[in-house]
Formats: sequence, structure tokens, C-alpha cells
Amino acid sequence: MKQTIDRLFENAILEKEAYCDLIINLEKKEYEKELRYLFTKARQMRERYYGNKIYTRGLIEFSNYCKNDCYYCGIRRGNTKAERYRLSPEEILACADEGYRLGFRTIVLQSGEDASYSTDQIGSLVAALKEKHPDIAVTLSLGEREREVYQYWYDCGADRYLLRHETAVKAHYERLHPAELSFEHRIQCLYDLKEIGYQTGAGFMVGSPFQKTEDLAEDILFLKKLSPHMAGIGPFIAQKDSPFAEYPNGTLTQTLILLALVRLTLKNVLLPATTALGTIAPDGREKGILAGANVVMPNLSPVSVRKKYQLYDNKICTGEESAQCRKCLENRVRLAGCELVTDRGDYAETMIAS
Ligand code: 5AD
Ligand code: FES
Repeated sequence: MKQTIDRLFENAILEKEAYCDLIINLEKKEYEKELRYLFTKARQMRERYYGNKIYTRGLIEFSNYCKNDCYYCGIRRGNTKAERYRLSPEEILACADEGYRLGFRTIVLQSGEDASYSTDQIGSLVAALKEKHPDIAVTLSLGEREREVYQYWYDCGADRYLLRHETAVKAHYERLHPAELSFEHRIQCLYDLKEIGYQTGAGFMVGSPFQKTEDLAEDILFLKKLSPHMAGIGPFIAQKDSPFAEYPNGTLTQTLILLALVRLTLKNVLLPATTALGTIAPDGREKGILAGANVVMPNLSPVSVRKKYQLYDNKICTGEESAQCRKCLENRVRLAGCELVTDRGDYAETMIAS
């Protein structure tokens, strides 16, 4: 197994079967040494491109209204128990100002697919943010839209876009989503975003219902093909009012294995240690960093709405002020032997840290 990990480190792309073998075996107790080796190589790969720097992005979850009904998600339209909220453009700008004051140079605007904000309103918001703070990167995470809309927001100044593909296997996608959602459209959105010029983030859940090992291998191979700038990977966590309430959560170890394999396969990708990872284990994000992650995304939303953006149960960081989250993450990053930096943290195109 060590040899396969070395091959991956040296630049080989593995066959699907080889990824499957690694995913299955590395979770076994008897391969603990090999698992540690995987994490060490993944860390080395991160260090090659980014040194010991961990980038930070301030996340503003500005609306939990959503027109979609994804079976895994707590803010799906069918969840009548979700308490809905929307922040006004002024409130969003105030959160971003607070983020700027705390040192964030990337602001992520995320929401459900909420049609009540028009294309123009979002565009104006992006333009206002960039005008006020020309040195920030604005990341949007607003779901699937038409190409023209993505283009318009890009022209307004948006730099990056996050849209997880959720799973690279159509049959699996269709078990996680109602028929009205199209796997092909989602994948098309990702290619459109890249073509327009966004720094683009894809990603998937680990341990989602009906997921097979091969599906995870396909996720890695799809990411390699798409070659996104970012990859958001976190464990599935059951949400009590969703159709998947009774399904088991993804595991810490399997998520860490996937993070490390994606780091070794995509090399310079920006890879967050996600909030979901910190939710399934108290030191999940530190462990993510030790498995090759290099981004953390503390919450900047007003504390009054945080509990309402419950994609899954027991989400962390819902009681803390923005400044507390930032401090907390700074400490965690240090515990993992790294340094939290506040610059924009763009994708390392060719840069290799010496
Ligand atoms: N568990 C883990 N992640 C989830 N997401 C949505 N619901 C869940 C859940 N129950 C993730 C999806 C989505 C992102 C915003 O949150 O991957 O793209
Ligand atoms: Fe939010 Fe620790 S990161 S409280």
C-alpha cells in the first residue's frame, strides 16, 4: 500500500480499483501505519504548494429559504420545521464589514436557492462589497443557475463560486435528490463556472446514504477531470427532520482518507477542513489539516440566525460571535502545527513553496 501511496505522490493517477482498495483497507485497524503514512504524504504535498499556511474564509449564510428538496438537507423546502430567515443586503454588508475588521480577505456568501433575491440584487451586493473592500475576494455559493446569471455575477466582480457536485455517479445522485433535479445540469454548471473564469469549487459528502466505495473513487476521478480550484469534502450527517434521519453518519476516518487522497491526486487544490468534520469529532478540523486540508471557514453570520442554518444536526459554531470563531480556529490551526493567514489565499497555480 505504501508503494501505491508513493506512486500517487509521484504523480500517477490511480485506476478506480486502486482507489477503492485504499479507501477500503486504510480504514482497517491492521493498516494503521499505512494510514499514518498516507496522512504524512498528504501533508507533504500541501506543504509543497502552500507551506504551513492555512487560509481562512468568512462565511455569511444569508438565507435558509430553498426551492430544492434534497433528501439529506435540513433546509430543504419540504422541512416545515425549519425556521426560515433572510438577511437584507444592509445586514449582509454589515457582516462583511465585521469580517473585514477581523482580518478576513475572502467573504463567502452562501444561501439556499432563494429566488427572492433577484439576479440584479445579488450583482449589486457583489459590486458593493468589492467597491467597499477592493482587496477582498468574493465567493458565491448560491446553487445552480443559468450560465448567463453566473456570467453576470462574474462581471459584477465575483471571484469564486462553490457548488458541490455531491456525488459523481448519476444513479447515486438520483437517490439523494428528487427527480426534478438533474445530475447533468449540476455538472454542466461546474464546467460553465470554470469556463467563465471563476475559481471554482466542487465537492461531495462522505458516507451519504447508498454510497458505495466505487462512488467515492468516481468522486476523486471526477475531481481530477474537472480540476477545480477548490474541493469541499465533509461527512454526511443525518438531519432529524429529513428523509435520511435514520441513516448513519459518515465516519471521521473515511472523511480523512478522502481528504488525503484528494490532496495527493489534485496536488495544489484548496481543501477546507469543513464545519461538518468539526461536528462529527471535536478535533475533526485539526485532524483534517493533518490529513492535507489547508482552508478553514469560520462563520460570520449574525448569532441570532446561526442556529437556523441547520443543514444537519448538532452543527457547531452556532452560539459563538464571529470574533470568537476566528480566535478558536486560529488556536486549532496552531495545534495542528500550522499558521492561520488572512490574505486572499488564491489558488496556487504554479507556485511551489521552497
Ligand atoms: N450532512 C452533511 N453535509 C450536508 N450538506 C447538506 N446537507 C448535509 C448533511 N445532512 C452539504 C451539501 C451542500 C453543502 C452546502 O452542505 O454537500 O452542498
Ligand atoms: Fe467557530 Fe470554533 S470555529 S467556535
